Amino acid sequence: MPDTALTLPLLDQIRAVVGDRGLLTEASDTAPYAQDWRKLFQGSTRAVIRPGTTRELAEVVRLCAAAGAPIVPQGGNTSMVGGAVPNEDGSELVLSTARLNRIRDLDPVDMTLTIEAGVTLKAAQLAAAERNCLLPLSISSEGTAQIGGVLAVNAGGNNTVRYGNARDLVLGLEVVLPDGTIWNGLRRLRKDNTGYCLRQLFVGSEGTLGIITAAVLKLAPAPKDIAVAFCGVDSVDNALQLFARFQSHDASALSAFELMSGLGTDFVLKNIPNAVLPLAEKAPFYCLVELATPRPNGGMRPAIEEVLEKALEDGVVLDAAIAESDAQRAAIWRLREEHSEAQKREGASVKNDVSVPVSKVPAFIRKATIACEALIPGVRCVPFGHMGDGNIHFNLEQPVGADPAWFLDQDHAIMEVVNEVVREYDGSFSAEHGIGKLKPYLMPDWRGGTELAIMQRIKAALDPAGIMNPGKVLP
Ligand code: MLT
Ligand code: ZN
Repeated sequence: MPDTALTLPLLDQIRAVVGDRGLLTEASDTAPYAQDWRKLFQGSTRAVIRPGTTRELAEVVRLCAAAGAPIVPQGGNTSMVGGAVPNEDGSELVLSTARLNRIRDLDPVDMTLTIEAGVTLKAAQLAAAERNCLLPLSISSEGTAQIGGVLAVNAGGNNTVRYGNARDLVLGLEVVLPDGTIWNGLRRLRKDNTGYCLRQLFVGSEGTLGIITAAVLKLAPAPKDIAVAFCGVDSVDNALQLFARFQSHDASALSAFELMSGLGTDFVLKNIPNAVLPLAEKAPFYCLVELATPRPNGGMRPAIEEVLEKALEDGVVLDAAIAESDAQRAAIWRLREEHSEAQKREGASVKNDVSVPVSKVPAFIRKATIACEALIPGVRCVPFGHMGDGNIHFNLEQPVGADPAWFLDQDHAIMEVVNEVVREYDGSFSAEHGIGKLKPYLMPDWRGGTELAIMQRIKAALDPAGIMNPGKVLP
């Protein structure tokens, strides 16, 4: 099928829709679209299609459907699980949303942003900020990640503790279905009980049910008073204690509570230029706390000081630094956000994007560390992430001097021992990165039976020919 589907006539028909500018066929042009950010999956494709409008995109999908040509939707290609790379045999066409990059509307009374799939998350945040609003979703890859992909994987990120995941911000969607039909569900209603909630079906579907081309997102008032602290703690138990104290002091002010290990932070200090520890002494673990309110002079600084002073007195915190300026705030956030990049520069790493109930994070980290060190002597455990919502990136860095390829070959064995501990605490093996190409084999074990059967029936109903992002999510 692939060879007949991708003969010149189909590409010629597509070119007639998107023009020369919307079709890349030179290997040097398509190469960046065929490999994931982590360089774990090397695919191949004969063409990357870059439509400029939803109509063009829908027409391309219609042509592909008629030819039986499989499509891999791609946004910023920042997936951690190979969710946007084509397979190796070149039979899949990459459909990039990058040129759907218009901000269609921002309504400061409705507090909504209507935006196309190819706008980067950063650009969307800036558009909201310009109008005194906040798009309350922040992830490390936000400069490159695009709204369509962010919604397709239901990204979580740094502010879930306060605002929820991407899915909690979606009021409406525009989607191109696998047969090329455009579904315009771009409503901006806060209440709308009219049958099945279709938009939530596409959020988190990772491009396997259709392509999100635009969305209506909820905004929040822009914060006017922000306080950020970087705290050293001697254990994850004390990190949890500190979280509980901030939560009971004023949960509505807490906009982020992130955890970092001493080792992961050392990798950042070593591998990221100009990264500086804002504390005099290193600590086994660190927490980043952010409080924010839309009220100017809203008392965030005294609030953070009050909780930290008491925590220092009680020995919950070893030391803490509160940012004195926007630049210091950004420098502290950088220590957290560069964790993935720093690990990449350190060598091969295996990621476990897992979640457990917040109260179980310390026990989970303790047990998973013991299990991984027993499996691979010398392995370097780097747990970090969104402690306030229970999502820990339990990443493992190769032993010093080990062969990176050998280490990466252990990924399933590593995921298995970590996931055993996750299961013990009723957690999830995929908290915010999705399933992609990396984890479909885990689905029968974790979501098998009725749950997986429902998913397969939905897939078959919407994409009977199986042309939308084949091989992703479902085994
Ligand atoms: C992050 O929170 O920085 C990313 O989701 C994490 C990762 O590299 O696992
Ligand atoms: Zn994360």
